[in-house]
Amino acid sequence: MQIKFYQEEEQVPLEMHKVRVVQKLFLRPIEERLQCIKEAGNNTFLLQNRDIYLDMLTDSGVNAMSDLQLAASMRADDSYAGSETFTRVKEAVKEVFGTENVLPAHQGRACENILASALVKPGQTALMNFHFTTTKAHITRTGGTVEELVAEKGLKPQSSDPFKGDFDLKKLRTTIKEKGAENIAFVRVEAGTNLIGGQPVSLENMLAVTDICHDNNIISVLDASLLQDNVYFMKTREARCKYMDLKTIYHLLADHFDIIYFSARKLGFAKGGIITSKDERFTKMMVEYIPLYEGFLTYGGMDVRSMEAMAQGLYESLDMEYISQGPEFINYLAKELNDYGVPVILPAGGLGCHLNAGAFVPDMPHEQYPAAAVAAALYIVSGIRGMERGTLSEQRNPDGTEPFAELELMRLAVPRRVYTLSQLKYVADRVKWLWDNRELIGGLEWVEEPSVLRFFTGRLKEIGFWQEQLLEKFRQDFGDSL
Ligand SMILES: Cc1ncc(COP(=O)(O)O)c(C=O)c1O
Repeated sequence: MQIKFYQEEEQVPLEMHKVRVVQKLFLRPIEERLQCIKEAGNNTFLLQNRDIYLDMLTDSGVNAMSDLQLAASMRADDSYAGSETFTRVKEAVKEVFGTENVLPAHQGRACENILASALVKPGQTALMNFHFTTTKAHITRTGGTVEELVAEKGLKPQSSDPFKGDFDLKKLRTTIKEKGAENIAFVRVEAGTNLIGGQPVSLENMLAVTDICHDNNIISVLDASLLQDNVYFMKTREARCKYMDLKTIYHLLADHFDIIYFSARKLGFAKGGIITSKDERFTKMMVEYIPLYEGFLTYGGMDVRSMEAMAQGLYESLDMEYISQGPEFINYLAKELNDYGVPVILPAGGLGCHLNAGAFVPDMPHEQYPAAAVAAALYIVSGIRGMERGTLSEQRNPDGTEPFAELELMRLAVPRRVYTLSQLKYVADRVKWLWDNRELIGGLEWVEEPSVLRFFTGRLKEIGFWQEQLLEKFRQDFGDSL
């Protein structure tokens, strides 16, 4: 796919699209940014967009749509029941996955709510390569527990392994044996494993997991929210996929997994969520929850324009030129930072470039939330909004103790087709400066700590006055620059 440059040293990832709509950005002076982060309780979720230069919080629902997605959204058929728009969504799902049973929901976590409500009985465990925040919250809400079985390599911040999201298959087999298949609600494979750096799972590993599930009569579930990036990595890193077309890979997965669900904020570059299955036995187990929690079966809480955009976005997830843009930009940023010595997760995965905050501020204890501290510091020195993906994103144990995250990551998500290479160069520049000044970064402590999904709305403050010192050093080095 790569277009080779004449001067090899000038090689950069090349966009296969052009930009025709733009949005004005603002970069506030550092003094104002310091004020903004304090007002936001040092929680980047609570910053206002007008105070942000580059929003790298997430790639969820913020990817740039294609012209065809926008065009599709104009022909939406708005009706409570029997909408033609839903028929087009079903056709797109069938094209991509080859499945005909399709349930709509308003976003990915709504699919998880339905899965947990229908499939998790109190006391049961859901096995997965790694949890996602909302997945775990729904499973525990319904009385279940989550057990993570990612292979050891997945938790090594840097290695050359191409598929760090893989399940430890041996552990999967022994855990099933120990617990008994009847105590396992389902096995969930998360493609492009979010919380460990967007790390992919190989096709071989996914299929082996489904084989183990079938042998033990356990339901297999694929969280396909980040499947687009994962499929890119299968194509480019896994020998058996090199000559397979993308559709063959998606179809193969749907042939093997009992249930597939996804956030269309990610897969499909729109909004919404889908649960789908080859076998209607599975969708039948969940169907009654859709009108109860989401809306009628032909919209499921989504608005029809988003559904049309999703349908077109799904077709585009079969286009290698479209799906390479994210991983290639992420790889560019990770390489820039790694070459300078900044600790980043390697190999670069999907979703975004992940700073290893545990190594960025190695002396900071988990209880002071190193990844959140680095996120606050980076916002102050750059106006860039990243996201904490470490201990703060965990939920406390029932006895109030903190489960420390395996990896303290500060994620710089790269929304697809939104930022240019020069903007990524700015990101790299400011991260490098912060790395060189990392001894100035201090910890955070709670002011208000919510009991559920605390990272969304919790408020913290700096321990001491390190943020003012950071500002002072920035002014010394950058003069009156923004
Ligand atoms: C892997 C994964 N699963 C589920 C979700 C939840 O999807 P949503 O944000 O649409 O509720 C996300 C969102 O980021 C995700 O990354």
